Amino acid sequence: MLSLGIETSCDETGVAIVEDGRRVISNVVASSLSLHSKYGGVIPEIASRAQLEYIYAVAGQALKQAGLKTGHSFLGSGKGIGLVCVTAEPGLRGSLLVGLSFARGLSFCWGRPLVYVNHIKAHIYAALFSAAGRPLERRRIRFPFVGLVVSGGHTNLFLVRDFGRFVLLGRSVDDAAGEAFDKVARVLGLGYPGGPQIERLARSGRSGRVRFSCGNLDGAYDFSFSGIKTAVLYKVSKCQSVKVSGSSSSPENRAPKTAGHPASGWVGEPSTETNADIAHGFQEAVFDDIVAKSVSACINKKVAALLVGGGVAINKRFRDKLTHSCRSHKLRVYFSPAEYCPDNAAMVAGLGYWLRRH
Ligand code: KG4
Ligand code: ZN
Repeated sequence: MLSLGIETSCDETGVAIVEDGRRVISNVVASSLSLHSKYGGVIPEIASRAQLEYIYAVAGQALKQAGLKTGHSFLGSGKGIGLVCVTAEPGLRGSLLVGLSFARGLSFCWGRPLVYVNHIKAHIYAALFSAAGRPLERRRIRFPFVGLVVSGGHTNLFLVRDFGRFVLLGRSVDDAAGEAFDKVARVLGLGYPGGPQIERLARSGRSGRVRFSCGNLDGAYDFSFSGIKTAVLYKVSKCQSVKVSGSSSSPENRAPKTAGHPASGWVGEPSTETNADIAHGFQEAVFDDIVAKSVSACINKKVAALLVGGGVAINKRFRDKLTHSCRSHKLRVYFSPAEYCPDNAAMVAGLGYWLRRH
């Protein structure tokens, strides 16, 4: 059965067609990111206006790519589509409203059932997809497993008994992991979104040169990333209080090369730490924390597999660290393929199908 998914929870407008919850037939995403980048974050009003503009064209494209839109009819008759699925929560209100209204309209016109999907849970479901262009992998994943979402809005660990029964084990009590990447990128003078830029900069950072740690909390599986963001801010401002004559303006070299200035309240050894060292230290600390808590959740809950999704899960260093740790604890880890890590409608269509079937 083909399900049509709609995703409009943040700045993306996505429509996808998925067969039997697993095979992605088409997956179209339009982003309004370029309209937000100058503000350093998503502006809800701008996002929902853009979604209102994009959604018809995105839906038409998804149907066309799936061979379901023929002739001049606007969105066709819905022939071949068995189900309409839409992100209902969580997300920006105006943005959600655009997707929900559109989905209700399609469901009503086509006479197809409508399934409401939780966006965070859908990110975990995306770990069942094969990478685009690859044959469908029959990943035999047994319930229960631990599900991890690392995105711009959420850092959540769940015990997943099945895709209709999620038990929340832990979450971020302040900034989400992606949000911390975006804020630290701003501190380091990089653009938005910050995740990919920090990843790139951290590659040239020296291991162990700058160390940070994440907050310890009462909840064993809870996360806190706001403290580390502030620690980066202090580190950078301490470094920048030491003016260096002739320093390059590239982000890698912008950090100081001489000793701290007493007027800054910091007197230290001559500093050779670069922004790249800081990005490296930040990234390692965040990922070490997430990896340790995810692995310990699997061990303590006695499950054999971990499913991972969300925008931050694209990060290669994160994937390597988590894969290595899971391997050494004899756990299997399934990542959402890179193209289904950011917000997309395929994960919504997939989870919606599963919920309808079970
Ligand atoms: O899942 P997503 O597309 O949207 C939400 O549901 O929030 O995640 C977006 C987040 C942004 O904060 C972005 O900076 C982060 O994912 N991100 C990354 C990388 N690529 C995107 N974080 C770390 N490393 C990356 N390569
Ligand atoms: Zn998301």
